[in-house]
Amino acid sequence: MTPRAQIVSAVPLGPDQLSRLAEWDVTVVDFTKTSRDDLRAALAGAEGLLVNSHSPVDQEMIDHSTRLRVISTISVGYDHIAVATTTSRGICVTNAPVLSDAVADLTLGLMVMVARRLDEATADMARGTWSDGRLGTDLRGKTLLLVGFGRIAREVASRALACKLDVTYFDVRADVPAMPGVERVATLAEGLARADIVSLHVDLNPSTFHLLDAATIGLMKPTAIVLNTSRGGVIDQGALTLALAEGRLGGAGLDVLETEPPAADDPLLSMPNVVVLPHIGSATIETRDAMRDCAINNLIACMRGDDCAHVLTF
Ligand code: DGY
Repeated sequence: MTPRAQIVSAVPLGPDQLSRLAEWDVTVVDFTKTSRDDLRAALAGAEGLLVNSHSPVDQEMIDHSTRLRVISTISVGYDHIAVATTTSRGICVTNAPVLSDAVADLTLGLMVMVARRLDEATADMARGTWSDGRLGTDLRGKTLLLVGFGRIAREVASRALACKLDVTYFDVRADVPAMPGVERVATLAEGLARADIVSLHVDLNPSTFHLLDAATIGLMKPTAIVLNTSRGGVIDQGALTLALAEGRLGGAGLDVLETEPPAADDPLLSMPNVVVLPHIGSATIETRDAMRDCAINNLIACMRGDDCAHVLTF
């Protein structure tokens, strides 16, 4: 009898998911608790791999997984996968871009929290202090710059328009479809200089690493608010921290950090008007279910050689 192809899953799977994958031998391996050698051994015979954004798949792991054909990630981001190596090996990589509403809701939540200084108000209340004199700022009439204008940014744009913001975007891609009521800016520098709120919605890759650094932060208004629900590495966190500490920015709402989780003494965690969340943009019951289902569908389709709408091309 021909041995069945193997799938390794870095995430726990319930009976429903296992039954959907019944035509393969499925092993669940916790990447965070498994030694490098054991991980290599587990991946040695794998043809399919199901991961999430906390399960890095680096070049060395791919080099050792000589049978690997498919990597399906339960995330929209894929910066945890060595895509240069998957491309050269012809390995199919898929993502699960079904979290746009959840991430856009969270982005809007951060925007309101920081603009209205809600973190300071809730901290006061928790201390038993009734402090109703601290003023925030209106969203209405403020200029929002969306950096990157893909699926998530477009959902943020529609929410921001409903809040009466003036919405602009910058995207390096020339072929991004226009959206009524949203203005494209020609350069990042122009957008940053005009914006009251800057929200980042780009993939993390070599061209977006530290897109906001000391130089680009220096172009922004001293009252500007920075929101990041993409990847921590898009901001030079040291430069951001310094700018916030020196009052060269108005505040920040960060769902992602360069190091996750951050060190307990990271100054961002205790700065006024800086809201830091533990990377929960997609963390709703419905969205996490949809992402896992999408990734399993992608894995099955690619393992079988069927069409799959979420194959990434680099
Ligand atoms: C994603 O899907 O990329 C989210 O950031 C969760 O990791």
